[in-house]
Amino acid sequence: MDDANDSHWNEYTELQRVKHELLRCYLGAWFAILGSSHPGFVYLETHAGRGRFGTGEPGSPIVALNTLLTHRFRDRLLGSVGATFILIEEDETNALALENEVRALGRLPARLSVHIIRADYETELQSAVSSLSPRGGPPMFMFVDPFGFKLRMDLLHRYLQQDGCEVLLNFMWRNMSQALGQPTTFGPLLDATFGQTRWERLGAIQDFEQRCDAALGLLSARLGADHSRDIKMLGPNGVIKYVLLHLANHRLALRKMNEVLWALSPEGDFRVRQSDNPDQPVLFSREPDLTPLAELLWSKFGGRCARTDEVDETSTTFWLPKHSHAVMRDWHQRGALRVVGQPKLVFSHNPEVEFVTKPVPILS
Ligand SMILES: C[S@@+](CC[C@H](N)C(=O)[O-])C[C@H]1O[C@@H](n2cnc3c(N)ncnc32)[C@H](O)[C@@H]1O
Repeated sequence: MDDANDSHWNEYTELQRVKHELLRCYLGAWFAILGSSHPGFVYLETHAGRGRFGTGEPGSPIVALNTLLTHRFRDRLLGSVGATFILIEEDETNALALENEVRALGRLPARLSVHIIRADYETELQSAVSSLSPRGGPPMFMFVDPFGFKLRMDLLHRYLQQDGCEVLLNFMWRNMSQALGQPTTFGPLLDATFGQTRWERLGAIQDFEQRCDAALGLLSARLGADHSRDIKMLGPNGVIKYVLLHLANHRLALRKMNEVLWALSPEGDFRVRQSDNPDQPVLFSREPDLTPLAELLWSKFGGRCARTDEVDETSTTFWLPKHSHAVMRDWHQRGALRVVGQPKLVFSHNPEVEFVTKPVPILS
């Protein structure tokens, strides 16, 4: 087994913890949606790993399986629905370790099938691509968690064209950033990754974060999903190490991921630091700056009337309803927003509100 493999499995950082927490929280929501509306679903990992770290923490396939096995809708999900877990891992030792971890979960429910495939993910995805139906198959959540950034983006694009498929991609920005600095060596690989040569422009962007955002934009366009969101994982020096990029075709999926991202990053900068200590009490309140949302709401609704649900809906691809409620409450108190036909602003009643004047300052 190579060194990259061993050092990875013997260290469980804050970034690993958050990555698994994101997976656990999002899958909890995804399973809940599926439990009410679909006859079956697929969870697929292209780089499944060992199933457990040397430090004792479970790896992503075990996190995902435990989320299902302890889910409040477990009976419905595994009674009438049925789940297929496809766990691809190329390394023999890792695949055997993963088999042991799955076995240690005990006897699995009859309608849960787990397939551990010791193979190269690319070969597996390629061989199954012909069976993808243009009409779409069962909902599929694909977790792509490689060591480097070399990935068959064209294959991921094919899967994402399936209506119910979504992908959580661990995009190894630090490796890619290094490759961008050596275009002669890595040019062909970057061409294949982005599907064209537009990556060449990235080198001219001086700011490291802006360059990363531009690369994410190119990558999302390449992968072709309707919606994407990301959270940046920073190394000990505060520099972006990798980015968890979620791609989906349904607005509901985006909304659920948005809720998870806000829970992991309450101040709204969507960054996780390796040096963060989860046991440390938060000494100051981590409130997001709602000014951009206030500007957005005024630009959309200024001078007119709307139901509060409609106001929430326009911003939920990034903000949460509690944020638009805070803005409307502030404006209501300052007389800039009027509730039509009612004395109070009660959001659960979905009242009609009129955005009367633009408040100055936009937030008090
Ligand atoms: C970052 S680790 C996966 C960690 C795992 N997702 C977790 O969070 O517990 C990457 C894994 O991909 C495996 N791997 C590397 N190249 C692969 C390939 N071409 N196909 C399938 N697995 C591969 C490595 O052996 C390693 O176990």
